[in-house]
Amino acid sequence: MKPGENALLKLLPVVSDLLTERTGLRFPPERWDELAGALMSAAREHGLRDAEDFAGRIVADPARARAIEDLAQRLSVNETYFFREPETFAAFEGKILGVLQAERTGKDGKRLKIWSAGCSTGEEPYSIAIALWRCVPDLKDWQVTLLASDLNVSSLEAARAAHYGEWSFRQAPDWLGKTYFQRLGNGRYALRAEIRGMVEFFRLNLVADAYPNPVQLTDDVDVIFCRNVLMYFSAAAAARVVDGFCRALRPGGYLIVAPAEASMRIFSEFETVNLDGVTLFRKPSAARAVKRSA
Ligand SMILES: C[S@@+](CC[C@H](N)C(=O)[O-])C[C@H]1O[C@@H](n2cnc3c(N)ncnc32)[C@H](O)[C@@H]1O
Repeated sequence: MKPGENALLKLLPVVSDLLTERTGLRFPPERWDELAGALMSAAREHGLRDAEDFAGRIVADPARARAIEDLAQRLSVNETYFFREPETFAAFEGKILGVLQAERTGKDGKRLKIWSAGCSTGEEPYSIAIALWRCVPDLKDWQVTLLASDLNVSSLEAARAAHYGEWSFRQAPDWLGKTYFQRLGNGRYALRAEIRGMVEFFRLNLVADAYPNPVQLTDDVDVIFCRNVLMYFSAAAAARVVDGFCRALRPGGYLIVAPAEASMRIFSEFETVNLDGVTLFRKPSAARAVKRSA
């Protein structure tokens, strides 16, 4: 055993608990090698001696929220691609957008607010923007707010730049690259400016930060996409996040999670909607909520 390894072993469970508390992410013992690696790389970047030094500082002062989030950024899974889970997008384009266009046309105009929570490098919110572009014929008459948030600042930077490699298109239909991107060379593609301009990115920790928040516009939302995020959270953190989403949605608003997450037992505040085999969740309208609780 190398010097310091024993001391680090004692710190790892404490750091792991702090990570779960602050970010929701779970780091069971089988991931502690990974955790030690991330502590080492964070220590190097911050000019500290070694992993134990970085871990020691976090444990001594858990108020170092940014240091814990920095660690989470090194450890979280950022995997994403355009039109991921195509059956979900088919339901969104074919059914949900139709319902919303009818419901959200009112006396003060046509308004739609959609939030991609845990958007990684932007493929999800841009797929939503493209779906709107394709499926809402009078889009120019709509006041659309398309929000996209993530904990990871480097992912958000990449999302704002909107330059993508082939890997982001690995399950995308042929028309996507041809219609909405410009080839840059080196196998990179730039998203068309009209689509890029539809999305507003911001940093938000789903577990530690407050929402709904009218300043960030995360209130009265029509649809929240939060896919492949909750599955990495502890059960308690996932339940808390889903409760926040319920408050952020308008009555009748939709919560869309990944197929693998839909069976989690944390959606009891919602009505389950099944659209061609895709399970979604809908916040009960005020009248139906009263009926349910009666
Ligand atoms: C696997 S990606 C999912 C991307 C996209 N939603 C999709 O389905 O393709 C998970 C994302 O959740 C983000 N994440 C993890 N913990 C978070 C937290 N506490 N608050 C906000 N985002 C978080 C990660 O940074 C990462 O970008």
